[in-house]
Amino acid sequence: MITPVILSGGVGSRLWPVSREHHPKQFLNLTDAHASMLQQTLLRLQGLDTGIQAPILVCNQDHRFLVAEQIQQLGQQARAILLEPCGRNTAPAVAQAALHLLHQGEDPLMLVLPADHVIQDTAAFVAQIAQASTAAAQGALVTLGIVPTCAHTGYGYIQRGKARADGGFAIARFVEKPPQAQAQAYVDAGDYYWNSGMFLMRASRYLEELETHAPALLEACKIAYQGAQQDLDFLRLPAQAFAACPADSIDYAVMEHTQAGVVFPLQAGWSDVGAWDALWEVMQAGQAQGVYTHGDVLTHNTRNAYVYSSARLVATVGMQDVIVVETDDAVLVAHKDQTQDVKHIVQQLKQAQ
Ligand code: GDD
Ligand code: MG
Repeated sequence: MITPVILSGGVGSRLWPVSREHHPKQFLNLTDAHASMLQQTLLRLQGLDTGIQAPILVCNQDHRFLVAEQIQQLGQQARAILLEPCGRNTAPAVAQAALHLLHQGEDPLMLVLPADHVIQDTAAFVAQIAQASTAAAQGALVTLGIVPTCAHTGYGYIQRGKARADGGFAIARFVEKPPQAQAQAYVDAGDYYWNSGMFLMRASRYLEELETHAPALLEACKIAYQGAQQDLDFLRLPAQAFAACPADSIDYAVMEHTQAGVVFPLQAGWSDVGAWDALWEVMQAGQAQGVYTHGDVLTHNTRNAYVYSSARLVATVGMQDVIVVETDDAVLVAHKDQTQDVKHIVQQLKQAQ
């Protein structure tokens, strides 16, 4: 049995001004007119017909109605919606899901999925999950690896070790977010993958690995889970006890240290649409001059651009490598190669508040 665990706690600040604290990118229809990225994540799983159970969603409490509504729109039902009073990163989020499953007397494979990724080839994705499930059932901590195309410093890097008979590779080394020069060396080496941030592992195995590599985090998570309260369709984690969990990612807390890591390569048109340049990359495919436009937009002599209008007419002339995003109350104009830094504008805005 596989229980999807959908992580939907991010704020998506690099996709400002469309992605906002109260309505982050995973709830937006940025890549598909009919479904948000969270909804696409859920719909993608329909192709996985063998033993897939209703999903567990883990999100910030402020987004509970958005999450519930988006699931309902699909005619689906969640197994549980776990509400975090604050963000403590992904290690505690996944721990809460695992603790919940074991509390219910089950120990299925957890398919941990970020709610904000684009995967163009759903069939290839579900086929690889099916292929990886035996390894995970036998105790491996499986991650799906992507062949790197540049020395991106926002990703984890996985060195491929010994090949297995099932198509996976033992993880020789896992390095989360290395500095630029190191990332470049890994790309040049040719035997590294990007960590996709999608994992397949037994609930109990994840907790065992936490026990070994991050015992304090596990202990704090257990105390928090004991205080969880059912509230309508939601399971609320207690504010104080959850805030006491150390903030750490599954990558730093477990994947960098585990001896049981296995990577399965994934070729499925994966993209972490973390910033506008990545969204441009996905959306411009097949468009003339690499120009993607949304809404009321006119362009002339414009190349390699993402131009988004929510209401007003936006026009560009003689521009290239540019991102223009118009919303009700803010307009962003950014160089395509510096969109990671949009988060600094969000920080400035927060400081000004
Ligand atoms: N529930 C919950 N609570 N979800 C969270 C939290 C949290 O506190 N923090 C992050 N998430 C969700 C985000 O919404 C996202 O869907 C996912 O967990 C991963 O978090 P990110 O913050 O986006 O991680 P990252 O992009 O820096 O790095 C991870 O993903 C990369 C690939 O996209 C790592 O796994 C990297 O190794 C990986 O390469
Ligand atoms: Mg991310």
